[in-house]
Amino acid sequence: MQSIKVSSPGTLSNLCCGFDILGMAVEAPFDIIQVSKRNAPGISIKHIDTFGLPEDSAKNIAGVSLMAMIDMLDYKEGFDVVIEKKIKPGSGLGSSAASAAGVVVAANELLGNPLSYKDLIALAMEGEAMASGSRHMDNVAPCILGGTVLIRDSAQMDVVRLNNPDLHISIVHPQIEIKTSYAREILPVDIPLKKAVSQWANVGGLISGICMNDLKLIERSLVDVIIEPVRSKLIPGFNEVKQRALDAGAMGGGISGSGPSMFMFSQDEHTATCVAKEMQMVFERLNVECKSYVTKPSSMGVQVLESK
Ligand code: HSE
Repeated sequence: MQSIKVSSPGTLSNLCCGFDILGMAVEAPFDIIQVSKRNAPGISIKHIDTFGLPEDSAKNIAGVSLMAMIDMLDYKEGFDVVIEKKIKPGSGLGSSAASAAGVVVAANELLGNPLSYKDLIALAMEGEAMASGSRHMDNVAPCILGGTVLIRDSAQMDVVRLNNPDLHISIVHPQIEIKTSYAREILPVDIPLKKAVSQWANVGGLISGICMNDLKLIERSLVDVIIEPVRSKLIPGFNEVKQRALDAGAMGGGISGSGPSMFMFSQDEHTATCVAKEMQMVFERLNVECKSYVTKPSSMGVQVLESK
């Protein structure tokens, strides 16, 4: 095999109460990444999208992860990479994770799968850490594994893949940029015990609800008393957008990752479509341009589209 093309999914991280420990792969949006062997050392990166990302491999998320892989395997040759990003950088939909995870999964396939999924998550983390300044795995792990993923212990790479609940997702991405590093800096360092109790009760409820596909329990557990009150101030109209979504029949939701995208879960596609429209209308009234997706959780992570 000389060349391989993969799709690499967007991911919703945190899922409200699960800051840094829960993430879910989604069917849309996703990036397309082609990795080819080159019979010489080095990495070339080419972007065929309009986001103006750096093509210098030392500054590109995919390049950094791929370089870490070359070092890990002591591989003597290199790769040519072509990336078509559809997940806008800085959207809160796991754009950097999709680049990092997509390229390492593709290169691993090209080389006959020498690496484990834990190795791949660790390598993808290298690019993710450069992009966001922190080593959270709640985007790269579901991007690689698909499904909903619990990061039980990131230092020990103890990640638990859960099946997806049977629900539909509205995602609305207001076209403003929030840097993950800034959205982390503003978070509280200490948490009052009462809030912590409420948060871990909701995490337990959410995971139980996901495992049992109990949509009512998921609905009750989509509550974030720690992160959302701080970060929601960065998103114009957040409270109104959320309320309109709930009034339109959504089960619940909140900020996707560090924002600015917002997600809402609904029981059926029709409701999810109405919810997305209602959310979009609030942003448009506030003169905030936005893009929306009506999608589903994806059971697949990075997927091979073609190889030759
Ligand atoms: N869990 C991370 C955060 C995800 O919320 O900062 C960033 O995409």
